[in-house]
Amino acid sequence: MPAIVIVGAQWGDEGKGKATDQLGESIDYCVRYQGGNNAGHTIVVDGVRYALHLLPSGVLTPGCIPVIGNGVVIDAGVLLDEMKALADRGIDTSRLLISANAHLIGSYHSTIDKVSERFLGKSKIGTTGRGIGPAYADKISRLGIRVGDVFDEKILRQKLEGALDQKNHLLVKVYNRRSVDVDDVLVEFKGYAEALRPYVTDTSRVVNTALDAGQTVVFEGAQATMLDVDHGTYPFVTSSNPIAGGACVGAGVGPTRIDRVVGVVKAYTTRVGSGPFPTELLDADGERLRQVGAEFGTTTGRERRCGWYDAVIARFASRINGLTDLFLTKLDILGEWERIPVCVAYEIDGVRHDEIPMTQTEFHHAKPVYEFFDGWGEDISGCRAFADLPANAQRYVRALEELSGAPFCGIGVGPGREQSIPLRPLV
Ligand code: GDP
Ligand code: IMO
Ligand code: MG
Repeated sequence: MPAIVIVGAQWGDEGKGKATDQLGESIDYCVRYQGGNNAGHTIVVDGVRYALHLLPSGVLTPGCIPVIGNGVVIDAGVLLDEMKALADRGIDTSRLLISANAHLIGSYHSTIDKVSERFLGKSKIGTTGRGIGPAYADKISRLGIRVGDVFDEKILRQKLEGALDQKNHLLVKVYNRRSVDVDDVLVEFKGYAEALRPYVTDTSRVVNTALDAGQTVVFEGAQATMLDVDHGTYPFVTSSNPIAGGACVGAGVGPTRIDRVVGVVKAYTTRVGSGPFPTELLDADGERLRQVGAEFGTTTGRERRCGWYDAVIARFASRINGLTDLFLTKLDILGEWERIPVCVAYEIDGVRHDEIPMTQTEFHHAKPVYEFFDGWGEDISGCRAFADLPANAQRYVRALEELSGAPFCGIGVGPGREQSIPLRPLV
């Protein structure tokens, strides 16, 4: 039985939650391997909408064990609230497993995230303000606090003193803020210890044992390929590795264990926050995509920037992630357009580029080269088989597939769990 990684192939919000949920009861474990509550994954089941930020989407599938891996950064207050809110809606969250090695986000991380954005002014990243970057910075600087630390007060105090010493100089002397009191943070973190304890374990061991036993494990990415700190549009990225390789690091499994890698792509493109976006539409079409596609952030409520499908990015994502499949979402949103442009290459300073250029400067100068496809002008949200789609929609899908570097395993035609067209089984 397979190990499947699901990754965003654009700039996030492609519908990873829905794609993960599609695997349904055939999956035994659903593992988040990076990111934190900057993510917002929306799943609609029987008309009821769930927005998940830290919990893996598998929590909504009976029998599936949700796992938060070592690569995730956890705001424990947000996690516990999310669990309670789901429990209040009748969802059982008691199966959750949390890695003892995952790092914790403290309120001081969100404070630093927000003030450092303010200091960047026009060059700001447009972060979610959830403290993600500062928490990962502490992890890499070896100043992070891990979940396992909250169970040992002596160690916790020692580590917090180390973590807050430099930060307090920064907060007071550079940012003109109040310093953070070690005792306050100690109380904050210790307060989570009892609530977290039943869920905390060596998740890498659990996941490897499950794979040894032939069980099916899905590694659910947050954010996306173009937001990857190594391979995305740096510095306008998140501070983790959403790409498929990140699943091995962030869950503690070897690369030889992964069988399938599914990239999720929207039938057009969106981006939240700052940074280059070659196919962005700043005109009426962009506004129409935003309204028809309801492109407003699940986490921050911000307007998403909208543009046409970019096959250069899809090909890049196919390569960087080693995609075996693509899951295409939101095809239904394009029903209104008579003519649909697809970016097939870039023109950069008068030269055609079929692949992402080497430097950031070139990418900032990239102008899309479009091919145009006839629209289908009808509602396809009731289609459940490829043959049900109008001929022009079929042509659009086949063209994207040919341009994007991996075969499509399914197509989303609406937000609902049932609103999909399966093409190739994953399990
Ligand atoms: P994620 O972060 O990648 O999980 O994506 P989000 O949940 O942030 O954003 C995707 C949005 O599109 C959500 O509101 C989904 O309910 C919705 N969605 C997903 N797939 C489809 C689809 O095929 N059609 C339509 N109309 N909506 C979809
Ligand atoms: P999901 O999992 C879209 C963006 C932010 C900002 C940049 C850095 O729902 O697809 P951060 O707070 O991570 O330091 O912000 O990354 N960003 C996302 N954009 N979807 C997301 O998650 C995102 N998570 C972060 O807007 O540009
Ligand atoms: Mg999202």
